[in-house]
Amino acid sequence: MTDLLIVGSGLFGLTMAREAAEAGAKVTIIDRRDHLGGNAWSEPDPETGIEVHKYGAHLFHTSNERVWEYVNRFTSFTPYVHHVYTTVNGVVYPMPVNLGTINQFFQAAYSPDEARALIASQAADIDPTHVDDNFRTKGISLVGKPLFEAFFEGYTSKQWQTDPEELPASIVTRLPVRYTYDNRYFNDTYEGLPTDGYAAWLTRMSDHPNITVHLDTDFFDPESEFSKSRTVGNLPVVYTGPIDEYFDYREGDLGWRTIDLELEVKPTGDSQGCPVMNYGDRNVPYTRIHEFRHFHPERAETYPKDKTVIAREYSRFAKRGEEPYYPINAAADRKRLKTYHELAATEPNVLFGGRLGTYKYLDMHMAIASALSRFNNVVAPFLSGETKTM
Ligand code: FDA
Repeated sequence: MTDLLIVGSGLFGLTMAREAAEAGAKVTIIDRRDHLGGNAWSEPDPETGIEVHKYGAHLFHTSNERVWEYVNRFTSFTPYVHHVYTTVNGVVYPMPVNLGTINQFFQAAYSPDEARALIASQAADIDPTHVDDNFRTKGISLVGKPLFEAFFEGYTSKQWQTDPEELPASIVTRLPVRYTYDNRYFNDTYEGLPTDGYAAWLTRMSDHPNITVHLDTDFFDPESEFSKSRTVGNLPVVYTGPIDEYFDYREGDLGWRTIDLELEVKPTGDSQGCPVMNYGDRNVPYTRIHEFRHFHPERAETYPKDKTVIAREYSRFAKRGEEPYYPINAAADRKRLKTYHELAATEPNVLFGGRLGTYKYLDMHMAIASALSRFNNVVAPFLSGETKTM
């Protein structure tokens, strides 16, 4: 007997499942993949044993106390602190842009105030009435022309396969420039990687007597016991797959970007000396290279000394059926999403959640926080009979 069906075993689905199970409900989770955990899943590379993040690098970080406390119930975290570097024109610079980057780039020894004045003068060309014209004008207004061209123009055009002048200013949420030598990538209070890996963490979340997991099970497979046609209307459903797919794309496809990861085992103990190297030049086809061994310096003794695993990352538009990673959120997408939301509101006791179900980019801590609050506000009152619909 199932009290709640959860479609998708990513961090949103797992958190929801765990909360419901602890509240006494019998929960069934289905996932169409052959493993649980969604995009945060990682597994050891078969040749080297090095933990590889299967769907792209996942770094855990949060300033949310409740989420930090919650995740620590299932895993401890290493003291890993994320740092990123960028290669531009044959030289390596620290990221995000900071005083070290600026002084190295201009071969100078500017103080914070001098660097601030320099960047302001290099942004002065942009007419204030045209700042919001496009990504380029907005970017230059924030970091000045030389830094924009070196660190953002090529990288962004590869990431979006679109010229920065054709991209909206709105995608520049923040191009941080730090006038200190701090090159910590994230600003959050808590940061780290699960000590014994993502697979162990995510599997522990599902390990509860009230939770049953069915892998290789697609909600849209009419033959499945847990198919949409057999469950919706009969059972409460938490759906974390793509919202447009749920409605058979009847209002059109929502736009997504995806990435291709090209894995390679290299015959060296260290290929690039850091976990992530961005490539700012347009003529380098990939956006960045991950070297997974550097995510776990504490495992240096157990990882091989003569082999390493790298992944070159290429970014492109996703076609239907490919892995949807980053919502594009163009005007046409927003219009379609509004209609899908209206349709979703009429589905009987189906809650749309997570990254794909809401068409929002969510970091892991945001997916967990969202599941915790939607469980408390929507699912728990429904399961306890306090509310009649969810
Ligand atoms: P998620 O996508 O993880 O899970 C959805 C699940 O639903 C999948 O397992 C899928 O198979 C399943 N599903 C879909 N349709 C189905 C159907 N019809 N039937 C059955 N199952 C179905 N975050 C962060 O904090 N730090 C980071 O460094 C990164 N890095 C990062 C890199 C890349 C490339 C991406 C794409 C994302 C990140 N993230 C991240 C974000 C992180 O991956 C995200 O927060 C979580 O995956 C969100 O969990 P969800 O449960 O919402 O979705």
